[in-house]
Amino acid sequence: MNVPFVDLRAQHDELRAELEQAFRSALDESAFIGGPRVTSFEEAFAQFCGADHAIGVASGTDALELALRAAGIVPGDIVLTVPNTFIATVESFHQLGAQPRFIDIEPATYNMDTAKLATYLAEQCARDRAGVLREKASGARVAAVIPVHLYGMCADMNPILAQAAEYGIEIIEDACQAHGAEYQLSDGRTVKAGTMGRAGAFSFYPGKNLGALGEAGAIVTNDAALNEEVRLLRAHGERERYVHDSPDGVNARLDAVQAAFLEIKLKRLADWNACRQRAAAWYQEDLAGSGLQLPVVPAGRTHVFHLYVVRVPNREPVRAALASQGVNTALHYPIPIHLQQAFRYLELGVGSFPESERAAREIVSLPMFPHITREQVAYTAARLREAVA
Ligand SMILES: Cc1ncc(COP(=O)(O)O)c(C=O)c1O
Repeated sequence: MNVPFVDLRAQHDELRAELEQAFRSALDESAFIGGPRVTSFEEAFAQFCGADHAIGVASGTDALELALRAAGIVPGDIVLTVPNTFIATVESFHQLGAQPRFIDIEPATYNMDTAKLATYLAEQCARDRAGVLREKASGARVAAVIPVHLYGMCADMNPILAQAAEYGIEIIEDACQAHGAEYQLSDGRTVKAGTMGRAGAFSFYPGKNLGALGEAGAIVTNDAALNEEVRLLRAHGERERYVHDSPDGVNARLDAVQAAFLEIKLKRLADWNACRQRAAAWYQEDLAGSGLQLPVVPAGRTHVFHLYVVRVPNREPVRAALASQGVNTALHYPIPIHLQQAFRYLELGVGSFPESERAAREIVSLPMFPHITREQVAYTAARLREAVA
């Protein structure tokens, strides 16, 4: 048997007629940038997330960068995030001239360890006379935190929301892997990923739970001013044709044809997330008692399983054995950001963030996509059990 890591063809086969029709309409209309298709998808995605506004942009990376810029992040600021994420999380604010400070992760959920966030804020930061939070060692303003809802499950947002409110820092959620994941707030409301901070950033890279047929992303927010600002920034700071209000604008617009594809696929997102959850339950059943650490879903959260990640202490021979039997796996991510060549200037060596480093050594992402079959999961789990044994 061959088990692909992701099978995008199956989801597009399901929608082939509608997607082809959308492409034909785009050719007929020949209006490719902005316009009613983008607005229509933005409204549908805002509604899906339970947010007041969604702004379509060209990628998840653009979504993060524009949200941070619109939230007032400026050169020299400190932005807090985790080391085990995709590089774009950190790239987005590095390119604004802001500097990262990393908070290690919880070993069970792979998300930000909120106790470590609290310790950093309490011990390493202090307010200046104007009440601005600054890092004691550098004097830099601590401006924002980016919780990454990794693998499809929200970081523990209640303590993050409480700390951000107490210290006056912005929250921009990296929801690029968590379309539709739910979280129960301390007031009892259950809300979706991306709607808890000042803004949430989504990627529609093809393999994501909601994927375009190319590059795309979105920002969601309940903040009317941020909505306006991001709309300006994504299109050259342009208020009306050839009238530019901001010099910080970029070209990060969402293509009309991608918006049309995304709106078609959005109608299937809740069902496809349920298929992923069903596949995760199959893995859970088939891998119970294997001794491997399986995904954990704390009370008050739902996991939409963008990725199904297990820990395998003796990873490389196990992956090789799986590959030789047709089971394709991946690593998210093999090198934590603080150990990447790109961020060597931070001078953070091995041992700086032990849980992120241990995760990078042990994690394996198993095949996961909405159309994976019971047989494919059973086969993968059986081969994994044999390889580990
Ligand atoms: C956690 C995370 N952040 C940011 C991004 C960047 O999104 P994009 O590839 O659409 O720019 C991705 C997706 O690749 C991601 O997984």
